Amino acid sequence: MKNNNNIILIGFMGVGKGSVAREIVKNSSYIAIDTDDLIESMENKKVKNIFEENGEAYFRSVEKDISLWLEKSVKNTLISTGGGFYKVKNLKKIGTIVLLDSPFEKILKRIEEHPNAKAKLSKRPLLNDLKAAKELYKKRRPEYLELADIVVDVTDKSPLECTKEILKKVKKHV
Ligand code: S3P
Repeated sequence: MKNNNNIILIGFMGVGKGSVAREIVKNSSYIAIDTDDLIESMENKKVKNIFEENGEAYFRSVEKDISLWLEKSVKNTLISTGGGFYKVKNLKKIGTIVLLDSPFEKILKRIEEHPNAKAKLSKRPLLNDLKAAKELYKKRRPEYLELADIVVDVTDKSPLECTKEILKKVKKHV
């Protein structure tokens, strides 16, 4: 566990960072924040509309601003991130990095089986083209693994099972 006691959840779109974050909150004293939620409230716009109206580069610049604020001002917090947030330069300084890992096909299946599948897909501009999304996954996965302090395979596990594993591993991590 890093000095600031933050846990940062990273991982590909749709892997379940939000669901796991909510479950961790239910089962611990952590309060959670989500980088996409912060961006949406700062910009007063949905992520999808920021991508459409301002472009991806602008979105990444807001992620960078948020990363600096997180490093400086946030402690004892569970930070759930957008799938591309890991690119910020100071990620290691923000907290203990936990990767939620799963094969691309399983992530896709998880999204497709969700009752709100359509909304889940349409709010994520980088999932519009599944072939491109798979390429992105292939490029990112080794980078996620390289950065992670802790890796949790979330395939076919409930949010509660993931939560127990994460809290146990974070406690042990120095
Ligand atoms: C992105 C992931 C999204 C969101 C944006 C870009 C990415 O968050 O930040 O659409 O680059 O992987 P989720 O991982 O919560 O879908």
